[in-house]
Amino acid sequence: ATAPTPDDRFSFGLWTVGWPARDPFGEATRPPLDPVEAVHRLADLGAYGITFHDDDLLPPGIDRAAVLARFRAALDATGLVVPMMTTNLFTHPVFKDGAFTSNDRGVRRYAIRKTVRNLDLAAELGASTYVFWGGREGAEVDSGKDIAAALDRYREAIDTLAAYVKEQGYRIRFALEPKPNEPRGDILLPTVGHALAFIATLEHGDIVGVNPEVGHEQMAGLNYTAGIAQALWAGKLFHVDLNGQRGIKYDQDLVFGHGDLLSAFATVDLLENGGYDGPRHFDYKPLRTEDIDGVWASAAANMRTYLLLKERVAAFRADPEVAEAMAVAGVGELARPTLGPGETLADLLADRSTFEDYDPDEAGERGYGYVRLNQLAVEHLMGAR
Ligand code: GCO
Ligand code: MN
Ligand code: MN
Ligand code: MN
Repeated sequence: ATAPTPDDRFSFGLWTVGWPARDPFGEATRPPLDPVEAVHRLADLGAYGITFHDDDLLPPGIDRAAVLARFRAALDATGLVVPMMTTNLFTHPVFKDGAFTSNDRGVRRYAIRKTVRNLDLAAELGASTYVFWGGREGAEVDSGKDIAAALDRYREAIDTLAAYVKEQGYRIRFALEPKPNEPRGDILLPTVGHALAFIATLEHGDIVGVNPEVGHEQMAGLNYTAGIAQALWAGKLFHVDLNGQRGIKYDQDLVFGHGDLLSAFATVDLLENGGYDGPRHFDYKPLRTEDIDGVWASAAANMRTYLLLKERVAAFRADPEVAEAMAVAGVGELARPTLGPGETLADLLADRSTFEDYDPDEAGERGYGYVRLNQLAVEHLMGAR
């Protein structure tokens, strides 16, 4: 694969390469990373964007103006952009029962203030997507959280903030990031489907979409590619968090492709050929075992894996045998409406070929050849074709 360039639109969270690898069982294994260093290193590696939570760059108590001036200078020097920003509504103890859906009204009002402050900065820095990952919006105790009331408050917060964005004339869209659990026992809007259903109830839902993360859908045992396909179909795939996950367990945030590689192949196929035009954003964590060189190697690995998969997908799509296997499977046939142009249900009922003269036993004998099609995908993925 060719080396990544800004045209590939790869972006990274500051909290990804900057993760000092503190986990619930152990201390940090790496020193803190200067955000300015992160900007330079990511630009050198060929990324185009860097994303962050308010507190990643501007922790409470810091000289905001000084930090921002240094950070902006690094962006200007490298050409790196800030395509997405988000709010930390999960680290501070105040958010232990949630932010927009805490049972404590004062917390909910504080969460809205904290978000508005960072939305103003997002507009200033030109971020076009603002992510809402509701890590603490959830519960462990069923009787302790009125889910209907929590969803009312969630909707109230998102609508209030979306109305603010419109009033200010900011060119920002919101992307809700689903996750089934961790850090809460159960999190509200646990999957892409839940989030899409929630968005349909919003007053300002026109500027609200989703930011699905590979590992989060897989933690729920779901197919990530199918999930983002439905989001695309709904016109709601505003952003993606790419990474790797190996099965239903804690959130691993592995390098993209280091989990289910065949699924990653399908994901790249969809992102490249399915009409997605947003950033290819990596939300991963360099393994706790890595030193700082390993951090940059892992950042490069995400992009290289994506580009290699893109190459393999192109070869798959160009293979005449694949085209033939797809024709046998009827992949293209599904795009044809079930009723003919202008045809009514009455016409279909009057059409004897749909029932009286239809032989379901004979139709039931058709083989779809999906195994052969999948084997062709596996062989392209392995570089065997
Ligand atoms: C996680 C989430 C977060 C969010 C981030 C931006 O499981 O930790 O994926 O990394 O993506 O907070 O909203
Ligand atoms: Mn995570
Ligand atoms: Mn994750
Ligand atoms: Mn994420």
